[in-house]
Parts: sequence; structure tokens; C-alpha cells
Amino acid sequence: MNRHFNEISPFELNYNFFNGLSNDWALLCTGNSEKQANIMTISWGGTGILWNKPVAICYVRPQRFTFEILKECNNFTINFFDHNKYKNELSICGTKSGRDINKFEKTGLNLKKIGNNIGVQEAKLILSCKILYSDFLKEENFLEKKIVEEFYPTKDLHKFFIAEITNVLQAS
Ligand SMILES: Cc1cc2nc3c(=O)[nH]c(=O)nc-3n(C[C@H](O)[C@H](O)[C@H](O)COP(=O)(O)O)c2cc1C
Repeated sequence: MNRHFNEISPFELNYNFFNGLSNDWALLCTGNSEKQANIMTISWGGTGILWNKPVAICYVRPQRFTFEILKECNNFTINFFDHNKYKNELSICGTKSGRDINKFEKTGLNLKKIGNNIGVQEAKLILSCKILYSDFLKEENFLEKKIVEEFYPTKDLHKFFIAEITNVLQAS
């Protein structure tokens, strides 16, 4: 599928990221090359303004293959889909690891080069991002301790990545 994309400013976006992430999910694509590229389903994250820049934030647990790739690359894309159409692909990317399979081959999704970054050709919206800051969530900093008990019984706290949104591609 060769979808055509228009580049728009983040300030022109009408997309509801609350519904987009929580209900429709997204694919976080990481990797410095087409060979290394890996896609992982995410439903936690956000967009906003920081340091006067439009930013996106994602949260990655240390056991993910994506986490290993992010040690070596400074970019990622967040790719949003028509959930009903790509439910199966999104489920595969959220249950299988790039350590074991090539998820592009397994799902039939295609890479899309965006400058130095890699997105997914079938997405309806792509945020191309450059990482500015990253750190782990820390147990001692939680004011609501119940969250640690509920979400981190094995203490696998997420690492968060704050990234500048450098390009927004919207399928036409
Ligand atoms: C709906 C959904 C949302 C998910 N959101 C996240 C997330 O925000 N962060 C995360 O670390 N894992 C998340 N996961 C789990 C990863 O997608 C899953 O472990 C995946 O297999 C990891 O792939 P990788 O090992 O190739 O990186 C989610 C899974 C699903 C199904």
C-alpha cells in the first residue's frame, strides 16, 4: 500500500491523542536502519509542549527489545492507525518481540523512511521524533504508592523518553 502523506505542523493537528493512544493504540517504531527497525504497540504516552517545543513522550519497560534498540538510537516514530483495519497487526506487535521475529515481515506492514527516521507506510498519522531526554520512573518519587503495587509488582519501572516532534505526516 502506497499511502500519500501531507506534512503538517503539530499546531494544525486535530487528532485526539487520548482516544488515539488508549483505544486505538499506536506503533512505536525504533531503529537506525531498515534492518534494525522494530515496531512495538503502545497505549501509554502523550504529546505537549516542553522547552518551547512540541514534544511526544513514550514509556518503555526495560524487558522490551525496543528498550535495547533505544540505547543505540536517538529517534523514534509514533504511528497511528485505523484500529479496526489493523487490529490484528497491532495485536501481534503488542505480544511478539522483535528479539524473536521480524514484525514487519510477520504483519506485512511496510517501512517508510522519514529523513533519518523510520515510520510505517500504512499509518494514518506519523509523529517523527528526536529524543531530547530520558530517565526511569523511580519508585521513591511516587506520591501514589498504590500505582507501584498495581503496575510494577516486579519493579520493572518504565523508562520515559521525551522527544521533539520534528515532523508530522498525515495520510491524505
Ligand atoms: C495495547 C498495548 C499497549 C502496550 N503499551 C505498552 C507501552 O506503552 N509500553 C511498553 O513498554 N509496552 C507496551 N505494551 C507491550 C509491548 O507492546 C509488548 O511487550 C511487545 O511485545 C514488545 O515488543 P518488543 O520486545 O519487540 O519491543 C503494550 C502492549 C499492548 C497490547
